[in-house]
Amino acid sequence: MTSATETSVQIIQSRIGAMTLDYAFVLGTGLGSAMDGVENPIVIPYEDLPGFPQGDVSGHDGKLVIGTQDGASVAYMLGRSHYYETGDVRTMAVPLETLAMLGVQNLVLTNAAGSVKADLYPRSLVLLTDHINFNGPNPLVGAVSDGGFVSMSDAYDPRLMRRFKRASVGAGVSLHEGVYMWFTGPSFETPAEVKMARTLGADLVGMSTVPEVIIARRLGLRVAAISIVTNFGAGFQGGNPSHAETREIAMQGAISLRRLLRAFLKTKEDAWGIKQPSALLR
Ligand code: HPA
Repeated sequence: MTSATETSVQIIQSRIGAMTLDYAFVLGTGLGSAMDGVENPIVIPYEDLPGFPQGDVSGHDGKLVIGTQDGASVAYMLGRSHYYETGDVRTMAVPLETLAMLGVQNLVLTNAAGSVKADLYPRSLVLLTDHINFNGPNPLVGAVSDGGFVSMSDAYDPRLMRRFKRASVGAGVSLHEGVYMWFTGPSFETPAEVKMARTLGADLVGMSTVPEVIIARRLGLRVAAISIVTNFGAGFQGGNPSHAETREIAMQGAISLRRLLRAFLKTKEDAWGIKQPSALLR
């Protein structure tokens, strides 16, 4: 843990008191309005928190909102930093460590993504089931004492995934499933790269989330991630993405994301654990 993390924890604790956080949500490009119904919100600008994102990519808000929702204590990060802004694959390490120190156990990441699958149209919501770290950089490089050997099986927590699926039915929001392939950006993919992503088993392409999932798993957080499809990938189904389109479509999709997140918080954990006993599987 860095001193930036310790300082950020202290600053947040000085504003929220002894409250322990249950859930954290990271709202990506254009998705700030997916936050809804936070009671007694405490708003802390990222400028006040060392190690939190300080860039200003349009479409990101730059503040942490803490409060309660449906009986749970929640933190919303409105805006994230990306590898493409800093060249640092650990750019989200301090915020995620800070949230973990404040008690967060469940992390819900959201992002805007390009679709490389014909039936995932723009505005679809997609629950990530897995990812491909196509870029290579890994935020755990250099971790001490074998601490980097983190299992990425079930990186996307099966219990949280089940809750999201139940929530989508309750909220009347259709929720697809897919595999996300991380490209560094900031340039969008070439048509050939999009074709490769499809061939290699991806459903979505995007510029965030994957390093955050890896860091979060190292911290022991349970992770779920939702993409809003803002476009078809370059050269696929006429896709020719732009940042303006990403923002605009994400802002439209934030409405159904908001419904889904509210319904998710109302769902309860399954009584049974991650894996079914093998006897049941045979
Ligand atoms: N590629 C990468 N990132 C994205 C895209 C895309 O097509 N759309 C939104 N974020």
